[in-house]
Amino acid sequence: MLARGLEDRKRSDRARASNRRHKKPWSTITNVRFSNRTVLVTGAARGQGKSHSLAFAIEGADLILVDVAKQIPGVPHPLGTAKQLEEVVAASRKLGRKAIGVNADLSQSAEVKSTIAKAIKEFGKIDIAVIQHAIVTIPRLTHEITEEEWDLTHENDLKSYFLLAKEILPHMMQRKYGRIIMTSSDAGYRGIWGIASYTAAKHGVIGLVRNMSQEYAPWNITVNAVCPAAVNTPMTDWMMKIYPNWYTEKIFPSSGRTSLFPGVDFTEPIDVTNAVLWLADDNSRFVTGIALPVDCGISAR
Ligand SMILES: NC(=O)c1ccc[n+]([C@@H]2O[C@H](COP(=O)([O-])OP(=O)(O)OC[C@H]3O[C@@H](n4cnc5c(N)ncnc54)[C@H](O)[C@@H]3O)[C@@H](O)[C@H]2O)c1
Repeated sequence: MLARGLEDRKRSDRARASNRRHKKPWSTITNVRFSNRTVLVTGAARGQGKSHSLAFAIEGADLILVDVAKQIPGVPHPLGTAKQLEEVVAASRKLGRKAIGVNADLSQSAEVKSTIAKAIKEFGKIDIAVIQHAIVTIPRLTHEITEEEWDLTHENDLKSYFLLAKEILPHMMQRKYGRIIMTSSDAGYRGIWGIASYTAAKHGVIGLVRNMSQEYAPWNITVNAVCPAAVNTPMTDWMMKIYPNWYTEKIFPSSGRTSLFPGVDFTEPIDVTNAVLWLADDNSRFVTGIALPVDCGISAR
């Protein structure tokens, strides 16, 4: 009996020590979820990145907002602009947050380094990194994809994610805190007609996330992916313009990609934002290494 009491006490001492190390979830539930948090968002000028940025600003975070904000040679669709990025920065400041905009091509190692150096100089830390910029190429059969298109997609949509993580992680490790969310896609867990280089890169993002989650949990750093399916953004607008029947004739039949919600084939950026914010806050503190589908249930088919 005495031995059992002693064992119980040791167990509760261990639990108390663990609670001291990791803040209790109820103490983290506030009206402003991200006050005192500094968040870096890539691809922030428009689409999902804009939605994530403004939601973090509403919830109290200070922001480093990064976008290439000009055309990258070889990318066939328009990218975000400097004006769009400035508008997101201005809207965040209007909400009372400290926010800076950084124009940088994150596929370039030197620009990744200078972006993170600038963020640390201005804010002293990065608590949360939402890495979600990407490009696509013109849909065509795999053997028709050029080597240049393959390299462009992989440097932009996968290698740059690694380069950013490489620069950010040492700062998070020093502070023993971090939340990294990377945007993959339903193309991260299935094939999608016409975009093999994008699909391979998005599969790679999930692999990177799983690997990093294994390595950095001891520093209280979680690493997760979100996997949206079709989202109503400028990227999708362009796809629909150049290839109006791509979704209905190619993607949906080839991938079995059909929403479980009648009449809803496209979600809105805010649907992805809500998943990102949950993975970024301390209510998901022990969730790491997942690839969370935001896909109208298509992955359940
Ligand atoms: N829209 C969809 O249907 C969909 C579906 C699944 C996954 N996704 C993913 O969601 C994320 C956001 O996509 P979106 O639909 O908002 O796209 P979007 O094209 O509207 O926005 C992407 C932003 O990233 C920026 N960007 C691209 N390359 C960059 C670089 N090298 N450096 C800095 N910024 C760069 C662009 O300028 C643009 O502002 C992407 O990772 C995309 O692959 C989108």
